[in-house]
Amino acid sequence: MIPAKRFLVAGGAGFIGSHLVRRLLREASTEEITVIDNFSTGDPANLAEVKDDPRITVLTVDITEPLHHHAKYDWVLHLAAIANPTDYEKSPLETLHVNSRGNEQLIRLAARAEARYAFFSSSEVYGYYRQIPRGGLREDTMSHLVLNQARSPNPVGKCFGEEITKYLADRYGVPYVIIRPFNVYGPDMDIKTNYGRVIPNFIRWALSAESLKVQGDGRQIRTFCHIDDFIEALMIVLQHPAPPTVLNIGSPIPTPVLTLAKLVNRLTGNTAGIEFVEKYPYETFSRIPDIRRIRSLGWRPGSNWKKASAKPSTGSKAAPLRLPGPGHQNILPA
Ligand SMILES: NC(=O)c1ccc[n+]([C@@H]2O[C@H](COP(=O)([O-])OP(=O)(O)OC[C@H]3O[C@@H](n4cnc5c(N)ncnc54)[C@H](O)[C@@H]3O)[C@@H](O)[C@H]2O)c1
Repeated sequence: MIPAKRFLVAGGAGFIGSHLVRRLLREASTEEITVIDNFSTGDPANLAEVKDDPRITVLTVDITEPLHHHAKYDWVLHLAAIANPTDYEKSPLETLHVNSRGNEQLIRLAARAEARYAFFSSSEVYGYYRQIPRGGLREDTMSHLVLNQARSPNPVGKCFGEEITKYLADRYGVPYVIIRPFNVYGPDMDIKTNYGRVIPNFIRWALSAESLKVQGDGRQIRTFCHIDDFIEALMIVLQHPAPPTVLNIGSPIPTPVLTLAKLVNRLTGNTAGIEFVEKYPYETFSRIPDIRRIRSLGWRPGSNWKKASAKPSTGSKAAPLRLPGPGHQNILPA
């Protein structure tokens, strides 16, 4: 297959989007990348390293507003989202619209551009599970979606986004893939004061010598995939002639949240300890992906950070989590 050369990346100034853009620009075959982002959470600094590359154009665009873009692309990639729990609790309509209206417009744009289309959904679509099936959540595992909760707009929006992608892309004859990321972490994650994701929260608290707030008893299970691994999985998908239409991408290694908290305290030397706080209602007990589909395309998830973190993080050859601030703190190895 001829390598894809032209990309439109919606949400390309965000965490995953900017890593993907930088990675695509390392490919000699990449001729053109258009980033569209409304910079609501995305940061121009994420693209500073590549902004002078003649192959990249960065446009301030809100994908929920009418889009009048006419150019040919090989891929249109929809990574735009209100992806932080605290933000989507505050902006439920915008969270829904980016997956509905914004998604529809990008699918139409992909049809005009004669491009393939990728919608970035989420592991959130699996919803609330007390016990997940043996071997993890498969792409066809039933969703246990929870409605009418403060955080419902994100998973509901993602489920709607998947459905509209399937039917609208089919109507226009646009080949598509739906990606379901499971907690991705790494350098340039947005660390805002009220950020809702567990790793940046823990690290932010640890670096300010605060106790780490763990919900419930901390036995809930998550998996954490380093951004470099995640991007390599995407590169396989983008160069594949006919990837499966729905793909989990994440680490299959279960980590109890309490273990993660202890690890962060140990690596940062934070002595403030752990504080157990009330659990968010309907916080799923366990979320582990079945990754057989993406594995069948040749992807292998990277090292287990629990092993790597036995060494001091500065000694790790893998890319660590880098935080804003003096010296870009390096905390968690890949
Ligand atoms: N990072 C993860 O662990 C994770 C997990 C599950 C799903 N995802 C999904 O992957 C995708 C990328 O996630 P991320 O971590 O890079 O998030 P992010 O918040 O870092 O990036 C999202 C980007 O979308 C932009 N954006 C938001 N609304 C927009 C709009 N209306 N128009 C244009 N741009 C808009 C933001 O400014 C930001 O740059 C999202 O769809 C997210 O839901 C990520």
